[in-house]
Amino acid sequence: MNHPLLKDKVAVVTGAAAGIGEAIARLFAEEGARVYALDIHTEAGEALATNIRAAGGSCAFFAADARRKETVEPAVDDAMSRFGRIDALINNAGIYPRRPFLEMTDEEWDEMLDINLKSVYVCTKLVVPHMVKQRSGKIVNISSVTFFKGLPNLSHYIASKGGMIGFTRSLAREMAPHGVYVNCIAPGGVQTENEGRVATQEEIARIVAQQALPRRLKPLDVARVCLFLSSEWSDGIIGQTINVDGGAVMK
Ligand SMILES: NC(=O)c1ccc[n+]([C@@H]2O[C@H](COP(=O)([O-])OP(=O)(O)OC[C@H]3O[C@@H](n4cnc5c(N)ncnc54)[C@H](O)[C@@H]3O)[C@@H](O)[C@H]2O)c1
Repeated sequence: MNHPLLKDKVAVVTGAAAGIGEAIARLFAEEGARVYALDIHTEAGEALATNIRAAGGSCAFFAADARRKETVEPAVDDAMSRFGRIDALINNAGIYPRRPFLEMTDEEWDEMLDINLKSVYVCTKLVVPHMVKQRSGKIVNISSVTFFKGLPNLSHYIASKGGMIGFTRSLAREMAPHGVYVNCIAPGGVQTENEGRVATQEEIARIVAQQALPRRLKPLDVARVCLFLSSEWSDGIIGQTINVDGGAVMK
């Protein structure tokens, strides 16, 4: 096995200041990548980058709203001017507030689709031309297993996450001839610091009960699959959505 897996690769990770994105940024840096960590939470993002550098890794934090081209562009420009390439883009930024459809406002619907899906378009649109030019690149979109389960009170969220899977499939066919790989991960219920904002202990226990694996999933479980999909070890995999859900949904 080649170690480290991402030696000198340049990776952009959105929503990197917490949870799954943070685990991806840390693991990628451990595996030799030059990480560009993007998030709207400046304090947590700066702390992460400082922490990664103190551990000997490479990480630059950029305060960026993944929905807004003008805030993401400086990170992409910096990567191109310093390293001349971007090898991986991880579209991870996302929110998951619940709302019964009958109570949902137009603003809530739009915000969900903007943050979870338009951001994928915005970041990919900025990065993919460079990948096409260099004839290589790995894009990993972080969707959700809720798309396969169809849970209530998440119609806006699941619409956005299904959109990511559709986007992945179409772009994967378009980009494969250029040497650019597009894949997707569908995590199940992952134990993050922020999960308490949306799920009760009873709901969390129910999630674990539905899994084949009798333990909570950790951000690192998702980050490891993301590492695989961002490395040459997954060169035969294109347009796929891989569930990291402890066996909750088997397809
Ligand atoms: N945690 C889970 O159980 C779970 C399950 C399935 C899918 N997911 C998906 O994984 C991704 C990460 O989830 P998480 O649980 O780590 O969330 P989290 O809330 O712990 O972290 C998300 C990060 O994204 C950032 N963010 C939010 N909006 C942003 C924007 N517009 N631009 C840039 N950054 C932004 C937040 O500041 C935060 O740091 C999301 O897309 C989520 O839908 C999570």
